[in-house]
Amino acid sequence: MKSIDKPKQFAHDLCEWYRENKRDLPFRKSRDPYRIFLSELMLQQTQISTMLPYYERFIGRFPDVKSLADASLDEVLKYWEGLGYYSRARYIHESAQMIVREFDGQFPRELKTIESLKGVGRYTARAIHSIAYDEPSVAVDGNVMRVMSRVLLFDGEIKQTKNMRHIESILDNVIVHERPSDFTQALMELGALVCKKRPDCEVCPLKDKCFAYKLDKQDAYPVVSKAKPKTEHHYHVFVVRHQNRYLLRRRPSHGLLANMHEFPQYESSYETALETLQNEFSLSIAAVHSLGTQKHVFSHKVWTMQAYEVVLKRPVDGLVNLENYPNAMSKAHHKIIEKIKEKGLPPWNH
Ligand code: ADE
Repeated sequence: MKSIDKPKQFAHDLCEWYRENKRDLPFRKSRDPYRIFLSELMLQQTQISTMLPYYERFIGRFPDVKSLADASLDEVLKYWEGLGYYSRARYIHESAQMIVREFDGQFPRELKTIESLKGVGRYTARAIHSIAYDEPSVAVDGNVMRVMSRVLLFDGEIKQTKNMRHIESILDNVIVHERPSDFTQALMELGALVCKKRPDCEVCPLKDKCFAYKLDKQDAYPVVSKAKPKTEHHYHVFVVRHQNRYLLRRRPSHGLLANMHEFPQYESSYETALETLQNEFSLSIAAVHSLGTQKHVFSHKVWTMQAYEVVLKRPVDGLVNLENYPNAMSKAHHKIIEKIKEKGLPPWNH
C-alpha cells in the first residue's frame, strides 16, 4: 500500500475540482444540519435521482425538526412511501422527537451526540459533522473506499470495518488542509461522477497521484468480497375485494416493513394460504382469479408474489378504498396495485 505524498496538495486539487464540478443539488444549498441529516438518511440506500423528489416533498411538508417531531408516524411513512428501507423514516421521526425533547429543538453539534441519534452510524454522523458544521471528520463509505483503494493501491477488503477505519485515519490527516464540508462532499462526488466502477480517469483531478492509474490497475481495485446470496420467499398474496374496496392488514411493529399496510399474504401452499386467509378474516368467497406473479428484491431477500383477486360475497371489517388510501404500503405491494390497475379491477374499470 502506498501513502499520500503531499496531503495539502491532494486536498487542494480534490476540492478545487469539486468547487468547479459539483452538481447543483437542493441539499447543498443549505447548511441546516436537519436538512443534511435528512438527505444523508435518504441517500443511505438510495440513488440521488430517486431521492430528490422525495427530499423536496418531505422538506415541503416537514421544513424543520419541530414540524417533523409533531407529525404522526403514519404521515411520515406516507411521505416515505416508495423509497424503501422504511426503518429510516421511523428513525428520523424518532430522532426529531429526541432533539425536541432532549436538546430543546436544537440539532446537536458534537460528533458523539450526532451519532447517538437514531439511524445515524459512524458514516452519517461524520458526514453531518463535516458538511453542516465544517468540522474535520472524514466520512468513509463504499464510494470513498473505492476511490482510496485505487489511489493508494489498498488491498484490504473494502467492507471490513478495520479497513474503513484505516482509510478514515489516513484521510483525517488530509481533511485538515481544506474546508471539511467541501472535502467530504468532494470525495463523495468524485466517487459518484469520476471514480465509478468503470472510472473516467482522464478527467480525474487525482490522476497524477493515483497509483492504480499509474500502473494501469484500476480494474483490480477495490477488493470486494462476494455478497451472500439472497434468501428466496414465495408468497400467495390475496387481493380481497368487495365491490371497489380492498382488504388491507397491518404488518407487525418489528422487522421487515414494520407497521406498513399490505394485502394479506402467506408463505404456505396455495390451499393452506387460502384457508388461513378465510379463517383470519372470516370471509365468504364468491370467486378467485389469478393476477399473475410479481417479484420484489430487497437487500437480503427476494419475494416472489403470486397474486389472486378474491371477490367477496359480503363486506368485512378492514376494507378500504385504495385510490385515496392515506396509509403507507411497501413498494412490493405497490407492484400488486399496479397489477390491479392493469387488469382494470374496480374502481379502475372505466
Ligand atoms: N451520498 C451520500 N451523501 C452524499 C452527498 N452529500 N453528496 C453526494 N452523494 C452523497
